[in-house]
Amino acid sequence: MPEQALVTGSAGLIGSESVRFLAEKGFEIAGVDNNLREYFFGTEASTDWNRKRLEEKFPLQYRHFSVDIRDNKAIEDIFKKRKFRLIIHTAAQPSHDWAAREPFTDFSVNALGTLTLLENYRKYSPEATFIFTSTNKVYGDLPNKFPLRELETRYELDPAHPYSARGIDETMSIDQSTHSLFGASKIAADVLVQEYGRYFGLHTGLFRGGCLTGPSHSGAPLHGFLAYLAQCVATGRKYVIQGYKGKQVRDNIHAADLVNMFWQYHQNPRCGEVYNAGGARHSNVSILEAIEKLEKTFNKKAIIEYSETNRIGDHVWYISDVSNFR
Ligand SMILES: NC(=O)c1ccc[n+]([C@@H]2O[C@H](COP(=O)([O-])OP(=O)(O)OC[C@H]3O[C@@H](n4cnc5c(N)ncnc54)[C@H](O)[C@@H]3O)[C@@H](O)[C@H]2O)c1
Repeated sequence: MPEQALVTGSAGLIGSESVRFLAEKGFEIAGVDNNLREYFFGTEASTDWNRKRLEEKFPLQYRHFSVDIRDNKAIEDIFKKRKFRLIIHTAAQPSHDWAAREPFTDFSVNALGTLTLLENYRKYSPEATFIFTSTNKVYGDLPNKFPLRELETRYELDPAHPYSARGIDETMSIDQSTHSLFGASKIAADVLVQEYGRYFGLHTGLFRGGCLTGPSHSGAPLHGFLAYLAQCVATGRKYVIQGYKGKQVRDNIHAADLVNMFWQYHQNPRCGEVYNAGGARHSNVSILEAIEKLEKTFNKKAIIEYSETNRIGDHVWYISDVSNFR
């Protein structure tokens, strides 16, 4: 009998990469995604194309459920009929800025949706490993208080700072800073997932990503910066840099590498363990540097507009320390 996995947000960037990875490992996968991304960010951000692609590529192993993770009855029906070995929960409202438009929607999807999944997990498949895609926004804007130096194309942390060599680790406080409402709803989910590990002794693992990327991202101005920027440069569309002179730094990680991290965790899971997840010192870039690289790749000049207004609580410099995962 093949092992069973549940992937939420299965048509999104990380969800679809997880489905492909697990299908290749021989799993049968139940995928939950109701394309709420189209509601959040408009038709250009719809993930329906990706759902179709998964159904075509893995007709025997992949079964799609167009169900909302907040719908306890529908989620319970899926759980009741299967014994999952692995659950990868990626469905979310993922944008800082969008969250302020509809705080109830944001909180109900990110926090209550996660609780709905955790409860069904505890009730029906407690032997499984539960993986949650958290975010570095749980640290709020505390990293912006670090001593930064302005270089020609990027900001850099003062080399004397303890986080300079390897990046930010998991001991950083998640308290008393500006997170955006998205950061707050993800903290609620993050702490719940930790608690199901620590309090109930279940194998829950949390990966706090920063900028996740890959070709399956349905990039939009409000989410999926690198995929959207690449699209803009490739198609000649204007890209608007929001604040910090375009020198803000992110340690991007490819979706496939992140999913591989999930898999390694699943081989030896712990209870409520938290991992910062990113390209770390190995792979990081500022917006200006990313534009330059893309211009070279596509041999095209990017059309860039600059807005002085940065996104509220946006990090100026963020690089993950991945030593705990290592
Ligand atoms: N992409 C990033 O840069 C980034 C960074 C840090 C953390 N994360 C986290 O990683 C996870 C995955 O991100 P992503 O980039 O793959 O996002 P994504 O938007 O590409 O995928 C999420 C999918 O979930 C679906 N979804 C949303 N709400 C749903 C609901 N209520 N019920 C069912 N399906 C729903 C969407 O339709 C979408 O297809 C999210 O939890 C996000 O917060 C992402």
